[in-house]
Amino acid sequence: MSSLLSTCLIVLIAFTVLLGEASEPAKSGCGQKGICECFDVGTASYEVNCSRRNLDACPENIPSNVTKLILSHNLLQVISSNIFNSMTSLKYLDISHNFLKDLSQDSFWGTKDLVKLFLSYNYLGNLPNGLFENTWYLETVNVGHNLLYHISSDLLMNLTKLQTLDMSNNFLKDLPYDIFKQNRWLRKV
Ligand SMILES: *[C@@H]1O[C@H](CO)[C@@H](O)[C@H](O)[C@H]1NC(C)=O
Ligand SMILES: *[C@@H]1O[C@H](CO)[C@@H](O)[C@H](O)[C@H]1NC(C)=O
Ligand SMILES: *[C@@H]1O[C@H](CO)[C@@H](O)[C@H](O)[C@H]1NC(C)=O
Repeated sequence: MSSLLSTCLIVLIAFTVLLGEASEPAKSGCGQKGICECFDVGTASYEVNCSRRNLDACPENIPSNVTKLILSHNLLQVISSNIFNSMTSLKYLDISHNFLKDLSQDSFWGTKDLVKLFLSYNYLGNLPNGLFENTWYLETVNVGHNLLYHISSDLLMNLTKLQTLDMSNNFLKDLPYDIFKQNRWLRKV
């Protein structure tokens, strides 16, 4: 074989391998080939721990009865808008320590029972208006260690049960003066 031909062949093989990796299907979270830890905690709680799995997408096959989902310390850059919407029992969601740059407004519209949400240590520059439109039971929100430069005055409007809000280590210069007017239980900012 001529050396030119063999070089072409090697390039072709390398290209095929690369393509193969790019189109790798989403990983399975729970079930037989699941890569996360999935277990019952008592009768009404189901936990899924997908932390530190080198994930660049939320795995498939996470039961819709999940109440606690940990996706921290992964490589997530985007949250597709419908991913959590089937998880209607979710109370605890940890997506901290990832590479999220922005969230779509409807990311949490289906998770109406959410109580604790951790988004710290990402690259979020903005939290879209309406992000917390349906999550009326949120008590803890952590958005510390991001790139936030602005928070709109309506953002926390419906969070009447909010107790702990961490916005530390961002680029927030000033907050709208009326941002906390509805959050009468807020203890720690
Ligand atoms: C949640 O769903 C999983 C998988 O279908 C099942 O094994 C588990 O027992 C369920 N747990 C609860 C608390 O409903
Ligand atoms: C989740 O899994 C990671 C990696 O195995 C582990 O380090 C961590 O302690 C687990 N967290 C919980 C809350 O079980
Ligand atoms: C608060 O809830 C109401 C009723 O669902 C909704 O119309 C409104 O857009 C919400 N506001 C914010 C800022 O999320």
